[in-house]
Amino acid sequence: MGAQQHEIGMIGLGVMGRNLVLNMADHGFPVVGYDKDAAKVEALRREAGDRPVRAASTLPEFISQLRTPRAIMMLVPAGAPVDAVIGELQPHLQPQDVVIDGGNSFFRDTDRRVAALAAARLQFLGVGVSGGEHGARFGPSIMPGGPREAYERVRPVLEAVAAKVDGAPCVTYLGPGSAGHYVKMVHNGIEYGLMELIAEAYDLMKRGLGFDNDRLHDVFDGWNRGELNGYLIEITTRIFRQADDKTGRRLVDLILDEAKQKGTGKWTSQDAMDLQVPVPTIDAAVAMRDMTGYKSERTAAARLYPDGAARLDREPAGFVRQLGRGLYAAVVLTYVQGMSLLRRASDAYGYGVALGDVARIWRGGCIIRAGVLESIRTAFERRPDLSNLLQDASFARDLVARLDDFRTVVQAAAAAGIPAPGLMAALGYFDAYRSGWLPANLTQAQRDYFGSHTYERVDESGVFHTQWNQD
Ligand code: 6PG
Repeated sequence: MGAQQHEIGMIGLGVMGRNLVLNMADHGFPVVGYDKDAAKVEALRREAGDRPVRAASTLPEFISQLRTPRAIMMLVPAGAPVDAVIGELQPHLQPQDVVIDGGNSFFRDTDRRVAALAAARLQFLGVGVSGGEHGARFGPSIMPGGPREAYERVRPVLEAVAAKVDGAPCVTYLGPGSAGHYVKMVHNGIEYGLMELIAEAYDLMKRGLGFDNDRLHDVFDGWNRGELNGYLIEITTRIFRQADDKTGRRLVDLILDEAKQKGTGKWTSQDAMDLQVPVPTIDAAVAMRDMTGYKSERTAAARLYPDGAARLDREPAGFVRQLGRGLYAAVVLTYVQGMSLLRRASDAYGYGVALGDVARIWRGGCIIRAGVLESIRTAFERRPDLSNLLQDASFARDLVARLDDFRTVVQAAAAAGIPAPGLMAALGYFDAYRSGWLPANLTQAQRDYFGSHTYERVDESGVFHTQWNQD
């Protein structure tokens, strides 16, 4: 491979970057990788074998091997490292070069970078990449946003490396500016919601029914063969079987109950609040990750209030069936919330995102891939402008058929004192969304009472204020 002939460059040769390089090379694209860390450069050289891959240890060496206009992707931690790489790169770039950020960057940072690089006649794509290390190596879901012509420049590479479902690549142009990173953020918000719901179902069976890991494995395995099938259910099945190398015990029982987070779920909740879109299951998931961090307080409180988390007074086989159906309803409602946020954000930020496309490219490669996404895709195919999936009665039919079981699950959790805020928030979301009347008249009355904030009436148009009786 001569100099200046490489199709694409990769900055950041951690395991994600390295795997994506190998994936690109496997599809016949010559790639040059660069990292400041000599060990990572060496690792790429070792793993590349006779693939069309070069590894550079200096920026000038890296730049000189790329064909122009250049396409340079970076996979570095979100935040300051992205700006640092852009700062180092920019003096070496020429107009029309494309810079691609494949990390989990905050969408407002992406908007800023798109504008800053456009001012220098450079093109910046913010691209969400989902699927972890295995996805990067063998087919992730890819969520690109930014200037469309920049996307067209790298489209053959992205389509080649992306996961395929029914022969179609799990990548498509999503919109200008930060559209790609926004869609990836919402993907992660949904991911948080689904993980919380699965954890609650696990808890209901572990503490509520006394199931051991083998039994839990069997339940999740059964679920994964039915309507709940999806990547997160599948890996959960495997987790219950994993033995610890050191002790031979099941590893899941040896892992501390404190979940970490890098912030994308929190950003989803924060922006949903800014846009006034209710996403309560995602909010509950973020809150529960925070709650897990209070381990010592929780331990002390468990001694203070020793009556929590009792056994469920239920026949196990029947309850597990209801739990599966309730979990399915809650999972659907989590996608519903995420999609309604995307709809509002797309309008507010001018992305013009086609939600059917989003559902389509989430069907493979990404962490939230699941069978239900095909029903979501077809609902948006029927009505591309659908504001909320619950407005599509045929989509919601499966959910409605599971409501009785869902209520039973939530009731059982409440009666036993087993925390299930994600399930409860999903059910509350549905009950509120389908309420033609909500008690907000009373809230308005209170606001007008204490703050003269005014109210509207059901029998007359206009804005009103009352001198409320103070006695
Ligand atoms: C993906 C994941 C990935 C992220 C995890 C961890 O789509 O491949 O979303 O981008 O590493 O979600 O996120 P937290 O650390 O916030 O749990």
